[in-house]
Amino acid sequence: MMSKDMIMTTRYPNAMIYSHWLTVVLVLIAYLSSGHPTRDGLIGELHVFSGLLVASMLIVRLPLRFFYRRHIPQQPALADWQEKAAKSVQTALYLCMALIPLSGWLALANKTQQFSAFGVAIPLNNNGSLLHFVGELHPFLGNLFLILAGLHAAAALLHHFYFKDGVLKSMSPHRK
Ligand code: HEM
Ligand code: HEM
Repeated sequence: MMSKDMIMTTRYPNAMIYSHWLTVVLVLIAYLSSGHPTRDGLIGELHVFSGLLVASMLIVRLPLRFFYRRHIPQQPALADWQEKAAKSVQTALYLCMALIPLSGWLALANKTQQFSAFGVAIPLNNNGSLLHFVGELHPFLGNLFLILAGLHAAAALLHHFYFKDGVLKSMSPHRK
């Protein structure tokens, strides 16, 4: 339901669009480079580096989301349940952007006392017993993130090609 102070727009602001797609690229790099970072050499460093960048994108995206809260495009054709489902998945994706890198950082501390990614020494917490368990869940959570992102992407593509509405265009870079 559109509140009175919403600004009518069909596209996300550019800063939200570019930060969305940069996050997608970083998540894909983290996923494709996943394995055993302490044994995988440069690929392992890439995994840790790109994964930490995913988390740091929250520092950009959450303030943008707040700043542009009245500029988020509304889709009047969507049923209430579709709007709720999209919002729940978006919230879950934001949680994944925080929790998967955090669990990865704990997993790394389970494997090694020190780790550098492209010359940057990663401070590690080597003394938590419960946290140790959270680290063990990291590979499972990492796969769950990709499944959730896949469902979200499939819904966007379904809207574009089947319902032929403006959902995917709302997040697409502007073409002249
Ligand atoms: C979006 C971010 C991330 C995703 C999607 C992700 C995904 C994954 C996946 C799927 C695996 C399992 C690979 C396999 O079993 O073949 C894995 C392993 C691992 N990741 Fe990540 N990861 C992310 C971020 C991070 C970060 C930021 C760190 C460290 C700071 C990290 C450290 C590790 C470690 C140490 C393992 C090996 C765990 C083990 O063997 O038990 N990951 N990651
Ligand atoms: C790791 C992958 C992804 C993450 C973490 C992610 C996250 C998000 C989030 C949090 C939003 C809400 C808008 C915002 O706050 O910026 C969003 C919107 C959107 N995303 Fe993604 N996304 C991913 C992948 C994709 C892919 C692959 C597609 C397309 C094939 C896509 C299409 C869209 C579209 C069309 C919207 C706007 C529609 C809406 O408001 O629901 N996303 N995404």
